[in-house]
Amino acid sequence: MGNTNTVLQAISDRRSIRGYKPEQISGGELSALLKAALESPSANNAQPWHFTVVQNPKLLDEINAEVVKNLEGVSDIFYGAPTVIFISSDPESRWGRIDSGIAVQTIALAAQGLGLGSVILGLPDFAFAGDKREHFTVALKFPQGQTFAVAIAVGYPTTTKEAHPNEPDRIDHVI
Ligand SMILES: Cc1cc2nc3c(=O)[nH]c(=O)nc-3n(C[C@H](O)[C@H](O)[C@H](O)COP(=O)(O)O)c2cc1C
Repeated sequence: MGNTNTVLQAISDRRSIRGYKPEQISGGELSALLKAALESPSANNAQPWHFTVVQNPKLLDEINAEVVKNLEGVSDIFYGAPTVIFISSDPESRWGRIDSGIAVQTIALAAQGLGLGSVILGLPDFAFAGDKREHFTVALKFPQGQTFAVAIAVGYPTTTKEAHPNEPDRIDHVI
């Protein structure tokens, strides 16, 4: 059933997209995603995050190679997306990872609103836990003391999928 509310519709229509056209997103689209990211709420308005936009296929390939070493049957953790936004945060921050999670979902919904596909990515974490951690931290311009929190791949989708099944049992009401 459709929504008349555009925000609710975007939430309903979003999917984790795992196939992208090679064509790059426009500068205007990227700016809109980053504006939305910066507009996200954070505990005490600390904004404990940093956003690194990577549109360099060589660097994405390098990160991918480091991650897939740890996985079986996975060849491209970025699914061919031309843009990946990495979010880093201060690991000592009480709310840093939650704030980063909120920001990444804000980006996902903004992408949906723009007609772009996206997929939130935790797997890059392997690249920041291994021997090349320092190298990638520098290459991705993470601020001093910050570590990888989460990433999101964005682009024009070539695939879609069914919505994940809802689990209403996960909700209780206390009245
Ligand atoms: C924190 C987080 C990390 C995720 N990491 C990955 C990932 O590394 N690779 C991937 O393909 N999907 C990843 N996902 C996407 C989930 O698999 C996806 O959200 C879930 O299967 C539900 O599907 P949907 O997003 O289409 O509703 C991640 C999602 C979240 C919230």
